[in-house]
Amino acid sequence: MSRPAEEFISRRMASHRPAPLRKYGPWLRGPNIISFAGGLPDPEFFDHRGLREAYDHVLDTDPGRALQYANGEGEPDLREQAARMLTEEGYATEPADLMITTGSQQGISLIGTVLIDPGDVILVESPTYMSAVRAFGLSGATMISVETDLDGIVPDDLQAKINQYQPKLVYLIPTFQNPTGITIPAERRDAIAEVISRNDILLVEDDPYSELRFFGESLPPLASDPRLEGRAILLSTLSKVLAPGVRIGWLRAPAALKPLFVSAKQAADMHTSAIDQMAAAYYADQYMHDQHRLDPVRAAYRERCECMGSWIDKLFPEGTRRTYPDGGMFIWVGLPDGYDTDQLLGPAIESGVTFLPGSSFYADNPVRSNFRLSFCTHGTEKIEEGVKRLAAAIESL
Ligand SMILES: Cc1ncc(COP(=O)(O)O)c(C=O)c1O
Repeated sequence: MSRPAEEFISRRMASHRPAPLRKYGPWLRGPNIISFAGGLPDPEFFDHRGLREAYDHVLDTDPGRALQYANGEGEPDLREQAARMLTEEGYATEPADLMITTGSQQGISLIGTVLIDPGDVILVESPTYMSAVRAFGLSGATMISVETDLDGIVPDDLQAKINQYQPKLVYLIPTFQNPTGITIPAERRDAIAEVISRNDILLVEDDPYSELRFFGESLPPLASDPRLEGRAILLSTLSKVLAPGVRIGWLRAPAALKPLFVSAKQAADMHTSAIDQMAAAYYADQYMHDQHRLDPVRAAYRERCECMGSWIDKLFPEGTRRTYPDGGMFIWVGLPDGYDTDQLLGPAIESGVTFLPGSSFYADNPVRSNFRLSFCTHGTEKIEEGVKRLAAAIESL
């Protein structure tokens, strides 16, 4: 019994990066900290009464089913609601196309299980969603960044990276991207779909934020482009439009792949909680037909985004750049060259504010002067105070 426990850890886990704020854990729970770090929806908008009604309904009408083991594919009622919502967004979908997941994060993880062999290449945006990098990393994927500008990935570089690396798939968040807030416009989507279909690779589209649009016209999912038929996997979630604690998402996969996703899911967690699925289906049917349901959330996020942006513009050093999102939850800030936002985190926490340093969001070649601010969690007073604290921390460097 002399081997230390660490020696038993798998190679893939040993190369796993811990979440960037973990080492600051004890300091982050203080009542005076203003957090711009997590993409946490404002709990003020959680419809706990509607959800209580939904859970009561399910337990009153069908407790045997709600509390029993269920099938891995997901509750038919919920898949029907999800198919309706995707179809309304412009992506004609049948319940049979869908598998319910425990949040879209599980969908990402299962893509790693079903599609990725160690060493397979996944192309990603630069920067991209941190927890996708971490989940794909656990499947042994090599992630390569595609050049990304203010309209998303650059099609010519996508083609160049496909030629160079022969990737299996490209993972994109085309609408209100995490972490940048950028949306790929229609013309760029068209060019990207052309490159993907011409080269016969898979698209994984992760779409948690598109319902949170506060400027401009909605765009259908990139995955709905007819050229990508049979080559696209779409992930959606109720986390940002209902509540993340409910842990309900769905994955739309080509018919040839879906049974494998169901099988991998059953191996991971048997099925997503039946009672949560049934309550979500009831809630979606009762309340989510109303296109204006999210208007108060959209209005609040728009006000918060504009408030945060204007204080950044007033107080951050000359030469600072930032994004101007039309929706979602995040502003991406670029301090002038020479700043290292990993170094900024300690002084910021001491000043009572947190954010996520840019380095966490790159699959390769991190740009350290960038960072992500989430504008969704707090009202404008706290946003103003938090940006002031952050500006003071930047000045102290
Ligand atoms: C791009 C993206 N994908 C997936 C997720 C995971 O969401 P969930 O598992 O709560 O559905 C998030 C959460 O922040 C996200 O930003």
